[in-house]
Amino acid sequence: MEVELYERVWMWTAAALIVVFLAAIFLTTGLRALQPPSHVETVDPTALSNYPEFANPGVTTRADGSVVVSVVAQLFSFSPDPIVVPAGRPVTFRLTSADVMHGFQVVGTNANAMVIPRYVSQFTATFAKPGEYVIACDEYCGASHHNMVGKLIVK
Ligand code: CUA
Repeated sequence: MEVELYERVWMWTAAALIVVFLAAIFLTTGLRALQPPSHVETVDPTALSNYPEFANPGVTTRADGSVVVSVVAQLFSFSPDPIVVPAGRPVTFRLTSADVMHGFQVVGTNANAMVIPRYVSQFTATFAKPGEYVIACDEYCGASHHNMVGKLIVK
């Protein structure tokens, strides 16, 4: 069977791309053991008062100047509220839930994580623009889910 040159070029290109994509999947999952950062640390959601950072959730500045925010989500609010963080500096959020699964989305930014009871979800974000941001729960969590909002103040 005669196959045109361009046809052959595209067939081999497509095959090579599939090999590259599969290799990327296997290398990142297998060799580097990547996993969601939310499934590393566990806490007891019924006894959050035993964990100092979640007993008194809030904003702390470490010795190296980095900022850490511990947040507890519960039906139907975030604690602390508002959260006040500096602009232009990396802010690490450590989130957990006291009851059911919630979401933590800083609207208009790419800061977004699921908040899962029994686990600590952690991510780091830098907010370049000072201002007030809405924090929305973006996982359906109950009758008043639509009212579960918080405020992030960047200054
Ligand atoms: Cu919490 Cu929806």
